[in-house]
Amino acid sequence: MIVSKDIKVVSEALKKGELVAIPTETVYGLAANIYDEKAIHQIYSLKKRPKSNPLIVHIGNCDQLDLLVKNVPKEVASLIQAFWPGPLTLLLEKSDLVPSYITAGSDKVAVRMPNHTLVLELLNLIDFPLAAPSANPYKRISPTEVNHVVNYFEHDLNYILDGGKCEVGVESTILGFEKGEPIIYRLGGISKEKIESVLKREVNVSGSKSVNLPGSAKKHYSPLKRMIVTENINKEVLANYPKRIAVIQFSDELLFEDVAIKFSFQGDFDNASKNLFSYLHFLDQQDIDLIICERFPANDLGLTLNDRVERASVE
Ligand code: TXA
Ligand code: MG
Repeated sequence: MIVSKDIKVVSEALKKGELVAIPTETVYGLAANIYDEKAIHQIYSLKKRPKSNPLIVHIGNCDQLDLLVKNVPKEVASLIQAFWPGPLTLLLEKSDLVPSYITAGSDKVAVRMPNHTLVLELLNLIDFPLAAPSANPYKRISPTEVNHVVNYFEHDLNYILDGGKCEVGVESTILGFEKGEPIIYRLGGISKEKIESVLKREVNVSGSKSVNLPGSAKKHYSPLKRMIVTENINKEVLANYPKRIAVIQFSDELLFEDVAIKFSFQGDFDNASKNLFSYLHFLDQQDIDLIICERFPANDLGLTLNDRVERASVE
C-alpha cells in the first residue's frame, strides 16, 4: 500500500483504473474514474455496498458540472456561490454523459466540489470526475484520518492520497429539489440554517421515498462497541456502573471521575464535528464495554451529529 502526498502518482493510478482513497474536507473517499465501469464495480465490492446505493461524483471546477447535469433549478447558483468548494452535495438531473451505473439507474446524479487543496489539484490534473463513497466498509464509521483507511483496507487497496485529518469530519449535506422545493436528504457538514439563510426560505429535511437513498439505512456509521445516546449521561453512567465506560460529552456535564475514558467537545460544534468519528475509531480499539454519548443540542451541526450518533447506536 502506497500512502503518498504526490498527486502525480495517484493520478497515474486512477488513469489506469486503480482505486485510490482520497482526502476531502468531510471524510476520506474511495475514488475511481466515473467512466471506468470496472473500477466502479470494484468500489462496490471492496465496500460490500449494495449496487442499489449510488455514488457521489466529485468535480474540481464548475465547467465539469455543466457537462454532468441539466435543467438545473435557478436557486442552485446561489448555493454553489455560497458553499462550493465545500460540504454540500447537489442532487440534480443527470446528463447523458453520466453513466447509469454511477446513479444506480436513477435519472439524478449527486455532485460536489470538495474543499481540500490537494484533492482539488488532483481533480484538475485528471480529465475525468471521481466517484467516491466514504472509504469504509458498508455501515461502518467513515474514515477521517489516513490510519482509519489503512485499518479498513490495508490488504485490498494500493493507494491513499495523504491529506491529513479531515477538517469538517462528517459527510456532506445532500440537497435536491422536488417540484421546485429544496429538500435536504442527508444532514451533513453544512447546517440547515446556513442553507436557509442563502435560499431565504425554509428547507425541509426528508427521508423521501421517491429518491433512492439507501445510505439512510437505519443502522449506519457503526462502531463495533455498544453505544448509548442520552440526554442524561450522569444517569446512564450510574446505571451501567461498574462496566468499563467511555463517555463522549458535548458539554462538561459529567459528575463521575472514574469512567475509563472521557472526551468533551467543550460545547463547540466545529470541534465535535471534526473529532466525533475520530473518537469512535479510537474507542473501538480500547478495552471498554460501552460508549455513552451525550445527545447534542438540536440546532446547527447538532442536528447532523445527532443523526450520526443515533444511527451508530442502533443495535
Ligand atoms: O462527504 C461526503 O459526501 C463523502 C465524501 C467522500 O465526499 N462521501 C460520502 O459518500 O459520504 P457515501 O457514498 O458514503 O454517501 C453518499 C450518499 C449515499 O447515501 C447515497 O445513497 C447518496 O449519497 N447518493 C449518491 N448518489 C445519489 C443519487 N444519484 N440519488 C440519490 N442519492 C444518492
Ligand atoms: Mg458512507
